[in-house]
Amino acid sequence: MLKVTGLEAAYGRARVLFGVDFEVGAGQLMCVMGRNGVGKTTLLNSVMGVLAPTAGKVEFEGADVTRMKTYDRVKLGMGYVPQGHETFPQLTVAENLQVTLEATGHRDRKAVDEALEAFPRLVPLLKRRAGFLSGGQQQQLAIARALVTRPKMLILDEPTEGIQPNIVLEIEEAIERLHATGLAILLVEQYLELALRLADRFIILEGGQVAHAGEAEDLRDEKVGRLLAV
Ligand SMILES: Nc1ncnc2c1ncn2[C@@H]1O[C@H](COP(=O)(O)OP(=O)(O)OP(=O)(O)O)[C@@H](O)[C@H]1O
Ligand SMILES: [Mg+2]
Repeated sequence: MLKVTGLEAAYGRARVLFGVDFEVGAGQLMCVMGRNGVGKTTLLNSVMGVLAPTAGKVEFEGADVTRMKTYDRVKLGMGYVPQGHETFPQLTVAENLQVTLEATGHRDRKAVDEALEAFPRLVPLLKRRAGFLSGGQQQQLAIARALVTRPKMLILDEPTEGIQPNIVLEIEEAIERLHATGLAILLVEQYLELALRLADRFIILEGGQVAHAGEAEDLRDEKVGRLLAV
Protein backbone atom coordinates (compact mmCIF):
# COMPACT_ATOMS: atom_id res chain seq x y z
CA MET A 1 0.00 0.00 0.00
CA LEU A 2 2.85 2.37 0.93
CA LYS A 3 6.27 1.74 -0.56
CA VAL A 4 9.27 3.86 0.33
CA THR A 5 12.47 3.29 -1.64
CA GLY A 6 15.91 4.84 -1.14
CA LEU A 7 14.46 7.85 0.64
CA GLU A 8 16.97 10.57 1.51
CA ALA A 9 16.28 13.82 3.32
CA ALA A 10 18.32 16.75 4.58
CA TYR A 11 18.03 20.15 6.22
CA GLY A 12 20.36 22.29 4.14
CA ARG A 13 23.70 20.49 4.31
CA ALA A 14 22.72 18.37 7.31
CA ARG A 15 21.68 15.00 5.92
CA VAL A 16 19.26 13.05 8.08
CA LEU A 17 18.00 10.08 6.02
CA PHE A 18 20.35 7.98 3.88
CA GLY A 19 18.34 5.56 1.78
CA VAL A 20 15.37 4.38 3.82
CA ASP A 21 13.41 1.43 2.43
CA PHE A 22 10.23 -0.08 3.81
CA GLU A 23 6.73 -1.14 2.82
CA VAL A 24 3.39 -1.13 4.61
CA GLY A 25 0.86 -3.64 3.31
CA ALA A 26 -2.91 -3.09 3.21
CA GLY A 27 -4.37 -3.20 6.71
CA GLN A 28 -0.94 -3.48 8.34
CA LEU A 29 0.24 -1.58 11.38
CA MET A 30 3.88 -0.61 10.95
CA CYS A 31 5.75 0.88 13.87
CA VAL A 32 8.68 3.24 13.27
CA MET A 33 11.05 3.32 16.20
CA GLY A 34 14.43 4.79 17.09
CA ARG A 35 16.09 7.13 19.54
CA ASN A 36 15.29 10.84 19.79
CA GLY A 37 16.59 12.77 16.81
CA VAL A 38 17.21 9.77 14.52
CA GLY A 39 14.84 11.17 11.91
CA LYS A 40 11.44 9.58 12.55
CA THR A 41 9.54 12.84 12.08
CA THR A 42 11.73 13.70 9.11
CA LEU A 43 10.74 10.34 7.59
CA LEU A 44 7.01 10.93 8.07
CA ASN A 45 7.29 14.51 6.78
CA SER A 46 9.09 13.19 3.69
CA VAL A 47 6.46 10.49 3.17
CA MET A 48 3.74 13.19 3.39
CA GLY A 49 5.55 15.76 1.23
CA VAL A 50 5.80 18.29 4.05
CA LEU A 51 9.53 18.03 3.40
CA ALA A 52 10.81 17.38 -0.13
CA PRO A 53 13.12 14.35 -0.14
CA THR A 54 16.53 14.82 -1.80
CA ALA A 55 16.35 11.34 -3.34
CA GLY A 56 14.19 8.26 -3.40
CA LYS A 57 10.63 7.39 -4.10
CA VAL A 58 7.31 7.26 -2.24
CA GLU A 59 4.50 5.20 -3.74
CA PHE A 60 0.96 4.98 -2.37
CA GLU A 61 -1.36 2.34 -3.79
CA GLY A 62 0.90 1.98 -6.80
CA ALA A 63 0.99 5.71 -7.62
CA ASP A 64 4.26 7.64 -7.45
CA VAL A 65 3.48 10.47 -5.01
CA THR A 66 7.08 11.60 -4.42
CA ARG A 67 6.49 15.06 -5.88
CA MET A 68 2.81 15.39 -5.02
CA LYS A 69 1.58 18.16 -2.71
CA THR A 70 0.69 17.11 0.83
CA TYR A 71 -2.92 18.17 0.28
CA ASP A 72 -3.22 15.84 -2.72
CA ARG A 73 -1.71 12.97 -0.74
CA VAL A 74 -4.39 13.52 1.91
CA LYS A 75 -7.02 13.34 -0.85
CA LEU A 76 -5.52 10.05 -2.03
CA GLY A 77 -6.09 8.63 1.44
CA MET A 78 -2.97 9.42 3.46
CA GLY A 79 -4.18 10.84 6.79
CA TYR A 80 -1.45 12.57 8.81
CA VAL A 81 -1.31 13.44 12.50
CA PRO A 82 1.96 15.34 13.04
CA GLN A 83 3.95 15.21 16.27
CA GLY A 84 2.67 17.58 18.96
CA HIS A 85 -1.07 17.13 18.35
CA GLU A 86 -1.64 20.37 16.49
CA THR A 87 -5.18 21.72 16.36
CA PHE A 88 -6.67 25.18 15.77
CA PRO A 89 -6.64 26.41 19.39
CA GLN A 90 -9.11 29.29 18.84
CA LEU A 91 -11.72 27.07 17.21
CA THR A 92 -14.06 24.74 19.06
CA VAL A 93 -13.77 20.98 18.76
CA ALA A 94 -16.77 20.95 16.38
CA GLU A 95 -15.24 23.74 14.28
CA ASN A 96 -11.89 21.96 14.13
CA LEU A 97 -13.65 18.94 12.64
CA GLN A 98 -15.82 21.08 10.36
CA VAL A 99 -12.93 23.02 8.78
CA THR A 100 -11.16 19.75 8.12
CA LEU A 101 -14.28 18.36 6.50
CA GLU A 102 -14.60 21.46 4.32
CA ALA A 103 -11.00 21.06 3.19
CA THR A 104 -11.62 17.48 2.05
CA GLY A 105 -12.94 16.61 -1.35
CA HIS A 106 -15.84 14.47 -0.10
CA ARG A 107 -17.56 16.82 2.43
CA ASP A 108 -19.67 13.97 3.77
CA ARG A 109 -20.88 14.99 7.25
CA LYS A 110 -21.04 11.35 8.24
CA ALA A 111 -17.22 11.41 8.30
CA VAL A 112 -17.43 13.75 11.34
CA ASP A 113 -19.84 11.41 13.13
CA GLU A 114 -17.57 8.44 12.40
CA ALA A 115 -14.53 10.31 13.72
CA LEU A 116 -16.46 11.09 16.92
CA GLU A 117 -17.45 7.43 17.25
CA ALA A 118 -13.74 6.62 17.38
CA PHE A 119 -13.27 9.21 20.14
CA PRO A 120 -16.55 9.44 22.11
CA ARG A 121 -14.84 11.52 24.83
CA LEU A 122 -14.85 14.44 22.40
CA VAL A 123 -18.65 14.53 22.12
CA PRO A 124 -19.33 16.42 25.38
CA LEU A 125 -16.49 18.81 24.44
CA LEU A 126 -17.76 19.81 20.99
CA LYS A 127 -18.36 23.44 21.98
CA ARG A 128 -15.10 23.86 23.84
CA ARG A 129 -12.17 25.69 22.24
CA ALA A 130 -9.41 23.26 21.33
CA GLY A 131 -6.83 25.43 23.12
CA PHE A 132 -8.56 24.66 26.42
CA LEU A 133 -8.44 20.88 26.03
CA SER A 134 -5.91 18.72 27.87
CA GLY A 135 -2.99 17.30 25.91
CA GLY A 136 -4.70 13.91 25.67
CA GLN A 137 -7.96 15.45 24.46
CA GLN A 138 -6.07 17.51 21.87
CA GLN A 139 -4.35 14.37 20.63
CA GLN A 140 -7.72 12.65 20.27
CA LEU A 141 -9.00 15.66 18.35
CA ALA A 142 -5.91 15.67 16.13
CA ILE A 143 -6.50 12.00 15.23
CA ALA A 144 -10.24 12.60 14.80
CA ARG A 145 -9.43 15.39 12.32
CA ALA A 146 -7.29 13.03 10.29
CA LEU A 147 -10.17 10.50 10.31
CA VAL A 148 -12.53 13.13 8.86
CA THR A 149 -10.42 13.03 5.69
CA ARG A 150 -11.47 9.34 5.33
CA PRO A 151 -7.92 7.95 5.16
CA LYS A 152 -6.93 4.56 3.80
CA MET A 153 -3.76 4.84 5.84
CA LEU A 154 -3.29 6.77 9.07
CA ILE A 155 0.16 8.20 9.74
CA LEU A 156 0.72 9.04 13.42
CA ASP A 157 3.80 10.69 14.93
CA GLU A 158 4.17 9.79 18.63
CA PRO A 159 0.49 10.08 19.55
CA THR A 160 1.20 9.09 23.16
CA GLU A 161 4.11 11.47 23.76
CA GLY A 162 3.71 13.53 26.94
CA ILE A 163 0.20 12.27 27.60
CA GLN A 164 -1.08 11.06 30.96
CA PRO A 165 -1.14 7.25 31.31
CA ASN A 166 -4.93 6.69 31.46
CA ILE A 167 -5.38 8.67 28.22
CA VAL A 168 -2.46 6.80 26.61
CA LEU A 169 -4.51 3.66 27.10
CA GLU A 170 -7.55 5.25 25.45
CA ILE A 171 -5.47 6.34 22.48
CA GLU A 172 -3.95 2.88 22.24
CA GLU A 173 -7.42 1.30 22.26
CA ALA A 174 -8.63 3.70 19.59
CA ILE A 175 -5.63 2.85 17.38
CA GLU A 176 -6.31 -0.84 17.98
CA ARG A 177 -9.97 -0.45 16.96
CA LEU A 178 -9.07 1.54 13.84
CA HIS A 179 -6.54 -1.12 12.89
CA ALA A 180 -9.18 -3.81 13.46
CA THR A 181 -11.44 -2.09 10.90
CA GLY A 182 -8.72 -2.73 8.30
CA LEU A 183 -7.13 0.73 8.28
CA ALA A 184 -3.40 0.64 7.52
CA ILE A 185 -1.36 2.54 10.11
CA LEU A 186 2.16 3.95 10.12
CA LEU A 187 2.95 4.75 13.74
CA VAL A 188 5.98 6.40 15.27
CA GLU A 189 6.11 5.06 18.81
CA GLN A 190 8.85 5.14 21.44
CA TYR A 191 7.23 2.86 24.03
CA LEU A 192 8.36 -0.68 23.33
CA GLU A 193 5.49 -2.24 25.28
CA LEU A 194 2.91 -0.33 23.27
CA ALA A 195 4.64 -1.23 20.01
CA LEU A 196 4.66 -4.90 21.07
CA ARG A 197 0.91 -4.79 21.61
CA LEU A 198 -0.02 -2.88 18.47
CA ALA A 199 2.47 -3.55 15.70
CA ASP A 200 2.32 -6.15 12.95
CA ARG A 201 5.77 -5.10 11.78
CA PHE A 202 8.39 -2.58 12.84
CA ILE A 203 11.44 -0.73 11.59
CA ILE A 204 14.11 0.86 13.76
CA LEU A 205 16.00 3.86 12.38
CA GLU A 206 19.63 4.44 13.23
CA GLY A 207 22.26 6.42 11.36
CA GLY A 208 19.69 7.61 8.84
CA GLN A 209 18.82 4.09 7.70
CA VAL A 210 16.65 1.13 8.67
CA ALA A 211 18.96 -0.65 11.13
CA HIS A 212 16.53 -3.40 12.04
CA ALA A 213 13.13 -4.58 10.83
CA GLY A 214 10.84 -7.44 11.66
CA GLU A 215 7.54 -8.66 13.03
CA ALA A 216 6.15 -7.72 16.44
CA GLU A 217 7.66 -10.75 18.23
CA ASP A 218 11.16 -9.79 16.96
CA LEU A 219 10.86 -6.69 19.14
CA ARG A 220 12.02 -8.92 21.99
CA ASP A 221 15.45 -9.33 20.28
CA GLU A 222 18.33 -8.02 22.31
CA LYS A 223 19.39 -6.01 19.22
CA VAL A 224 16.21 -3.95 19.66
CA GLY A 225 17.18 -3.08 23.23
CA ARG A 226 20.58 -1.91 22.02
CA LEU A 227 19.14 0.22 19.22
CA LEU A 228 16.61 1.90 21.48
CA ALA A 229 18.78 2.33 24.60
CA VAL A 230 19.64 5.92 25.44
N1 LIG B 1 13.58 21.97 10.66
C1 LIG B 1 14.80 21.46 10.93
N2 LIG B 1 15.92 22.12 10.57
C2 LIG B 1 17.14 21.60 10.83
N3 LIG B 1 17.35 20.43 11.43
C3 LIG B 1 16.28 19.73 11.80
C4 LIG B 1 14.95 20.20 11.58
N4 LIG B 1 14.07 19.28 12.07
C5 LIG B 1 14.83 18.30 12.57
N5 LIG B 1 16.14 18.55 12.42
C6 LIG B 1 17.25 17.65 12.80
O1 LIG B 1 17.13 16.45 12.08
C7 LIG B 1 17.39 15.32 12.91
C8 LIG B 1 16.18 14.40 12.92
O2 LIG B 1 15.09 15.06 13.56
P1 LIG B 1 13.65 14.42 13.68
O3 LIG B 1 12.77 15.45 14.28
O4 LIG B 1 13.25 13.84 12.39
O5 LIG B 1 13.93 13.24 14.72
P2 LIG B 1 12.92 12.34 15.51
O6 LIG B 1 13.43 10.94 15.40
O7 LIG B 1 11.53 12.59 15.08
O8 LIG B 1 13.13 12.85 17.02
P3 LIG B 1 12.08 12.83 18.25
O9 LIG B 1 12.09 11.43 18.78
O10 LIG B 1 12.71 13.78 19.24
O11 LIG B 1 10.76 13.30 17.78
C9 LIG B 1 17.78 15.87 14.27
O12 LIG B 1 19.17 15.94 14.32
C10 LIG B 1 17.16 17.25 14.28
O13 LIG B 1 17.92 18.12 15.08
MG1 LIG C 1 9.86 13.24 16.06
